[in-house]
Parts: sequence; C-alpha cells; structure tokens
Amino acid sequence: MTALTLSTAGAASLRADALVVGVAKSPKGGKGLVVAPGAEAVDKAFGGKLASVLETLGASGAEGEVTKVFSASGLKTPVVLAVGLGTAPQKDESYDSEGLRRAAGCAARALSGAKKAGFALPVEAVEDAEAIAEGALLGAYAFTAYRSGQDAKDAKGPLAEVVLLGTKPRDKAFKAAAERAAVLAEEVNRARDLVNTPPNDLTPEAFAAVATAAGKEHGVKVQVLDEKALAKGGYGGILGVGAGSQNPPRLVKLSYTHSKAAKTLALIGKGITYDSGGISLKPAGHNETMKCDMSGAAAVFAAVVTAARLGLEVNVTGWLALAENMPSGSATRPGDVLRMYSGKTVEVLNTDAEGRLVLADALTRASEENPDAIVDVATLTGAMVLALGNRTFGVMANDDAFRTAIHEIAEEVGEASWPMPLPADLRKGMDSPTADIANMGERMGGGLVAGLFLKEFVGEGITWAHLDIAGPAFHEGAPYGYTPKGGTGSSVRTLVKLAERTASGDLG
Ligand code: BES
Ligand code: MN
Ligand code: ZN
Repeated sequence: MTALTLSTAGAASLRADALVVGVAKSPKGGKGLVVAPGAEAVDKAFGGKLASVLETLGASGAEGEVTKVFSASGLKTPVVLAVGLGTAPQKDESYDSEGLRRAAGCAARALSGAKKAGFALPVEAVEDAEAIAEGALLGAYAFTAYRSGQDAKDAKGPLAEVVLLGTKPRDKAFKAAAERAAVLAEEVNRARDLVNTPPNDLTPEAFAAVATAAGKEHGVKVQVLDEKALAKGGYGGILGVGAGSQNPPRLVKLSYTHSKAAKTLALIGKGITYDSGGISLKPAGHNETMKCDMSGAAAVFAAVVTAARLGLEVNVTGWLALAENMPSGSATRPGDVLRMYSGKTVEVLNTDAEGRLVLADALTRASEENPDAIVDVATLTGAMVLALGNRTFGVMANDDAFRTAIHEIAEEVGEASWPMPLPADLRKGMDSPTADIANMGERMGGGLVAGLFLKEFVGEGITWAHLDIAGPAFHEGAPYGYTPKGGTGSSVRTLVKLAERTASGDLG
C-alpha cells in the first residue's frame, strides 16, 4: 500500500525519485504548452524553459500523456515526470478535480517500482489535494499476489510514497482530506483485490471469512448465515443459485452503527464468486472474466468498512449475497420453481439470470429492518453493458429524486452513471404459467427487466435504488487514468459519498 504525506515544502527541496508536474495545452486562443501551477520551482530550475523542453520531447499536454525528463540542477530528484492535463482552464477557471485525479493516477502508475515521488500539481483548494491524493493512491494499485518465481521478482510493486507538495500538513481541512483519501483509496483497492482474486480461492466461504476478519479490525459487526442457516431461514433464492456448487452459499450481514446516527442506509451486493451460467451454461468467451460477478458485494463491503473507518454519523448495514453459480447434478434446472425468502415463488427459466435471485432474498431481508433507503449494487446484465458501454453504470430506482441524487453523487466523485427507467409494461414478460414470477422476461431492455424483478422484493414504502455495474466493474483494456486492468472498485466512491450525504442530512 502506498503511503501518503503532505508537505508545505517547495518542489526544489524534496529528496525523492521523481517530481510530478502538470503540463497542459494552452487555453483557447493560445499556442503551445503551459506548465500547470504548483510546478513553478521546477520550471525555474529549468531556467523557465520546462514547457519548451517538454514540447521538444514531443509532449502535447494531452490527458494521460506521460513524459519523463532528466532533472535540472537545483532539484533533488533525478527525474521530472510531466503528466498531461488536457486543455488548461481559462484565467478565471481552475483544473477540474476528476482531471487532476486521473492525471495523478497516470503519473503514479508510470512510477511503479519507485520509492518516493513528490506531486507538484495545481492545488487551489483542499478538494484539489484530495483528488490528487485519491488519484495517485488508486493509480499506484498493482495486483501481484499470484505471481511467482522470477515473475514475482520482475513485477514492479506500487509507488511506495506519495508526497503532496504545496499542501498544509497542520491544517485541519488538509489533514481530514488526506485521511479520507487514504482510507477511501485503501478500501477501493481492497474491493479491487477481492475482484481480482481467482474464484478457486475466493469462494463464498472465503469471502465471508475475509469480511469477518476486516469487520473485527474496523469495528463492524459481522454475521454470517451458512447453508444450514439459509435453509432454516428459507432463503430459496440464494440456496437455489448455490445448489450446483461444491462451495456452499453465504449471506453476510455487516453492521456499522454510530451512536449519533439519525439514519440507516442498507447496501446490498451481488456476490456471485463465479458465474458459469449454471445449467444455462455460458458459451466459451463469456465466462473467462466471470470472477468479477461479486464486484457488487466487494463494493458494498468496502463502503461499509470505509464508513466505519471514517466514523460517519450514519448507520450502514451491508448485505453480501454470496453464491457460486455452477452446473452439476444438484444444480437448479431451467424449469425449477424456487420459494424465495419473501414467500414468493419464482420459476427459473434461465439459470444464468442468477443475480436477481440472490439479490431478491437480500432485498426482502434488508427491508425487514426498515432502513431509510436501500441501494443494491450488481454486475447484473449484459444488456446494461450494451446500453451504456464499459465505463458507465445504470441507476434505476423506485423514487425519481433518489435516482437523480445518486446519479449526481456519482458524477461528483468521478464515476460515470446514467439514470435508467423501470417501464411498467416490461413486467408482463416475466409472467409465469406456474409461479408468481419468472426470472426472465423480454430480451429487449433486459437491464430494466432485471430492475423490475428486483423492485418486487423491496419492502412496501422503502426508498430503493439499483446500480447495474456490469460494464465498469471489470476493465479488460489498457489502464487509463487511475483505472487499472481487472477489478476497478466501481461504485465504492459513490456509495461512500451517499453515506456521507445521508449522515449530513443533505438527502431527504
Ligand atoms: N453476471 C451476468 C451479467 C454480466 C455480463 C456481468 C457481462 C458482467 C459482464 C449475469 O448473471 C447474466 O448472466 N445475465 C444474463 C441475464 C439473462 C440470462 C436474462 C445476461 O445479461 O445475459
Ligand atoms: Mn449469470
Ligand atoms: Zn451473474
């Protein structure tokens, strides 16, 4: 894990492996490159010629571009790393925080293997420092746990220490921002680790054990229902999905409470530790990345622990619905009817539509405690990926204002999302000749159909939202910004901000 320190020190006096500076295209009307504020001392060491040196080396200031330069005399680092910030803002405007977060992420990743780097990026306000810290700590992430031998030796670890220059280590606001950024990034990275852990190791039981240990460490109460307790409780959805696997399912309840809390937020995560599709087996090409199907549970887990570590004045209950979806002689068949925890019966027409089954039980169970709001997070449908692409999650809800609030919060923390409807006419596609409802409906609008299914299991009068993170949860392309390959930790930052808003009473 990367360490974070604040420093008032100027860039010129820091002894480190590298100094990170920002470089941008001149704002509209201007020509060439500009060095972003925060790097004045570095530019001075280059005789005021840093921009032209970088330009000669081919730098354009484009977002995500990294240019490394041999240092100038007067600086105590051997290397200066310039990261592109896109187009510089006009005179009376400032660099936006997501841009800074991404740039810091690119720089940190480019410095993997290094011990210490000073970040001399533009810090106009505390929020800028927080964004840079977050981006650097998230961008530094590396998952090397499964490398061995020479491979392990060659694998570069994350940049060990990030020093934020031009900040005030003794200032309360700066200290709080740094603390929040460090905890949040650590927890997003914890979610990423869980997603990246292969499914032969991260079984439902193993996930529950990780949650139990972390709960102990951070003051979160953890209760685990094993397969026996699930059977006793009548959790037909979770048991039905787990029936085909040698690794039995679990329902984990995480409770963080604060003595001054006025509100309780319930978070539910889809935790399919591996989704083969079950008897409705996925074809080759569709199951290689399905270890990511517990990303919702990982996000919820990380968010609850973050709320606890930050001591937020709100109660947050997390429900991890954990099961492995496998085909076998004991697996649920297409055509089987499950009796859910709510008492409703579901005809399973496609065993690959398993997420909604485990979530339904958790939604009913969470509703019993009458929270002020429920948010479920799930890699639920391929249809949502077709609709919104790989980087944007869909937000559905039974309350328009709540859906809007979550979409806006996501935007604020730098997570792309889009509000989606729950059209009532799609409900009839799930009519079953045998049971109360089928687990599949019309193919068109499949993401919304899944949302409508979930809605039926939310307790009367409870505000609820559903985040379908099937697109952004797992990143298969080259890393960008602070997003690595593999597990991304999608929605953790949105959930944490939602908890903070709930704590401060800014949400209804
Ligand atoms: N876990 C998948 C959805 C998914 C797809 C997640 C791609 C991440 C990337 C889910 O369980 C699933 O299989 N959904 C089916 C539902 C269908 C059978 C109604 C789908 O989307 O095809
Ligand atoms: Mn599936
Ligand atoms: Zn799934």
